[in-house]
Parts: sequence; structure tokens; C-alpha cells
Amino acid sequence: MKRNKRIEREQGDVNTTVNRREYWKRNLKGESKRWFDEDKKYFLHQSLSTPVLNVLSRAQGVYIEDLTGKKYIDMHGNGVHNAGFNNPAVVEAVKKQLEEHMTFCPRRYTNIPAIELARKLAEITPGGLCRSLFCPGGSEAIEMALMLAKQVTGRFKTISFWDSFHGAGPAAASVGGEEHFSGGFGPMVPGAFHVEFPNYYRNPWGFTSEEDVDAECLRQIELVLKRAPEMAAIIGEPISATPVVPSRRYWQGVKELCEHYGALLIFDEIIEGFGRTGKLFACEHFVTPDILVLGKSLGGGLLPFAGIVTHERYNVCQHRSVGHYTHEKNALCSAAALAEIGYILEHKLHEHAAELGGYTMKRLTDLKDKHPLIGHVAGLGLHIGIDLVSDPQTKARAVDEAEVIMFKCLEKGLSAKTIEGNVLTLRPALVITREEMDRAIDIIDEAIGEVEAGKKY
Ligand SMILES: Cc1ncc(COP(=O)(O)O)c(C=O)c1O
Repeated sequence: MKRNKRIEREQGDVNTTVNRREYWKRNLKGESKRWFDEDKKYFLHQSLSTPVLNVLSRAQGVYIEDLTGKKYIDMHGNGVHNAGFNNPAVVEAVKKQLEEHMTFCPRRYTNIPAIELARKLAEITPGGLCRSLFCPGGSEAIEMALMLAKQVTGRFKTISFWDSFHGAGPAAASVGGEEHFSGGFGPMVPGAFHVEFPNYYRNPWGFTSEEDVDAECLRQIELVLKRAPEMAAIIGEPISATPVVPSRRYWQGVKELCEHYGALLIFDEIIEGFGRTGKLFACEHFVTPDILVLGKSLGGGLLPFAGIVTHERYNVCQHRSVGHYTHEKNALCSAAALAEIGYILEHKLHEHAAELGGYTMKRLTDLKDKHPLIGHVAGLGLHIGIDLVSDPQTKARAVDEAEVIMFKCLEKGLSAKTIEGNVLTLRPALVITREEMDRAIDIIDEAIGEVEAGKKY
């Protein structure tokens, strides 16, 4: 099989590098090594997961812990940990639901937790979104959103963004913009067009103003809408995973184009929903979509659960099924979701994310003066990325350095993931304190300093 460094690292750090082997050699001993080998023996290997980094024994609050008892502040959590790993309120709600013997709900019936969850989402999502449909995972939820958009519009084409990830299922991977999930799989779902996400730091046209980048990106979208008419939907994350935070003007422009050309706007907030960006939903920074897709933390960090929320006017599929999933109204998952949402609202975790995110951005931006490797810091709330460059002028991606920094951070007690090879991403549980964030930033500062001083891994 042909290997391509850039492609492999689109979504995250990979398990095929020399540094990864060195990490295993240094960190996996005794029990850890034994279980690591068992995992490696029985799971199907994939570059982003198996062989794994290490074996965990606990995940609690902001931390994960390995078999040796070493704790790491987790800056990734796959996005499920907004209220913290194993949040006691969520655990309690799940236990209570189990004791009530109403967990799985056979299709054609409903149950109170599922109804309460749909009602809660209608109350807390913006702009009149009020109709929900649930399923086990984010990829399926994305596919339900696409199916609904196709039914509503009677069209099938979509526009989405290069470098985006919307899930591993075939329709989700078709709108995703990473070759990692579509290359070598034969024909994907037809009609999936892709355009550039507005990236102000790394735009390919050399523009220096955000207005120019927005105008060019909107021009590209309009070109596709004109040349490939009959578009069903435009789908994207409000803020890219890297993250790149577009202007409100940009998303307003996209929404206007959608309205003009009769396409629906779908926002994937599987990562960005539930307080991550400093508002309860990321779309509140921009515009209300036609369909909002939620997942990850919707399951309370304990259970797999995802779904879509849309407007009353799109409740038009009585004669079809757009998401016929066995766990559509799972009471246990709904109880976890209600507890997670309740916790976020009660503790105003979205406001905490806004405040601590602002502080973190300031500290990291200050570090930029000290570290030439830091090319750019971007983010909103507790969704932050550090773009590491080997040359600040050319903005050449410091892929090798980023990997060494990541492993150094790990050994110092901070687990963070790289994306696109060189961007260190910070997405902690929203219950993280300022002291814990300071510790995390100190570790990053130290690790970058060591790499700049020429220390190898
Ligand atoms: C933005 C985004 N959309 C969709 C998905 C797919 O979710 P799931 O893994 O639950 O299918 C992910 C998962 O990482 C994601 O980050």
C-alpha cells in the first residue's frame, strides 16, 4: 500500500512513525505492555487507532490515567467529555435509569426520558429548531441530516469543505474532505462537491484581509451552486476542526446563498455543541442552520448517542424513514444526555469555556513571542489550536517537531492530539480549572522550548 505522510496525518497523529515506536519502547512496560500486546493482537489495525498509544485504567473529570497510575490532563477526549469524564451527575442519572428498568425502548413506543430530551433540545437550541431525531453515532446523524435535506429539497447534491471530517460512514465520508476516509474505497456517494474553508492564516491566495478571503470562498460556493445546480445542502462545522474561526459575515453569506439557491444549511456541531465554543451551540456565534447535528457529549460521555434538530417546516417525511435506528429513542442514552445538559446549564460551563478560553488564547499568544515554532494560535472557547511552523515566513508546517512536542507533552502529563500534522489541538473537558489549564500551558511551553533547543525525542 502506498504511504503518504500528509494524507495520513489529516485527522490526527498516526501510529506508524519512528517516534511512536520510541514512545512505546520507553513507556510500555510490564502490565501495560502485556495489555497493549493483547489489544494489538485482537483488534483490526488502523493508523489512527490500533496499535494504540497506551492502555487506560480510568477517565475522571479532566484526567485520563494509565495502568501505571500516571495521570494526564486530556486535551482531546474525542469530544465526548464536555461535562468531564464520568461526571458523577451523569453516572447517577444512568444508574437511576437502569434501576427503573426502562433502558432500551422498542421501536413504535416511546418513553419519558426520550421525550424530555427532545423537548429540552427544542428549548435550548436557537432560532426555532424544535424537531429531533436520535441515533447511536455522529456519522449516522450526519447521514440522517443529509437524507432529510434530500427529502426536503428533492435534490441530492451537496457542498462541503476540504479537510473536514464528518464521520466514517460512506455518506458522511463522502461529504468529509479527507482522503484518509475516502481514498481507495471505490465510488463514494455521488454529487458531493467540495470547496475551501475560509482560512485567514493559511489562505492559498496570499490575501491579507479576512474580507478578501471570505469573498473568495463565497465566490467559490456560488460558482458551484451555479455550475452544479439543484444543490440539496451545504454542510460544514461552524468552526473547522483545526480550528479556524470564520467571520460571522462569512456564514451569513453562506446562509444567503443557501436561501437564494434553495439549498439547506447543515451545521455539524458534533464536537462544537454543548458549550465547547463559549456558547451553548457554536451556531449562536454565526447563524441558525436548517439542520443542527449533535453527538459526542450528547451521550454524557458515557454512552454513544447523536442526533439532529431541525425546524417545524422540515417535518415532512411521514412517508419515508430518514433515520431508522434501533436506538432511536433509547431511554438510557436520553437520561445520560439530559443529565449532561443539566450539568452544563447548572454550572454554566459554556460561560466558563468562554472565559477560560479567552485567558488561554492570551497566554498562548504571549508564548508566540518566545517561541518561533508557534506560527499562529486560533480558537474560540475551549476549542484551540497551536499551528506549529518550521519557518514563520513561509509558514511551513512543522510536522516532525509537532510530533516530538506531542510526545514530550505526554511524558510530562498532558495528552493532546495533532491535526493536519502540525496543529496541536486543545479541547479539554469544560470542567477544567484555570490552575489545570496553567499547568497544561506550562507543559506545552516547556516541550516547545526543548524542541527549539534541539532536544530530540
Ligand atoms: C466533527 C465531527 N463530525 C462527525 C463525527 C463522527 O462522529 P462518530 O464518531 O460518533 O460517528 C466526528 C467524530 O470524530 C466529528 O469530529
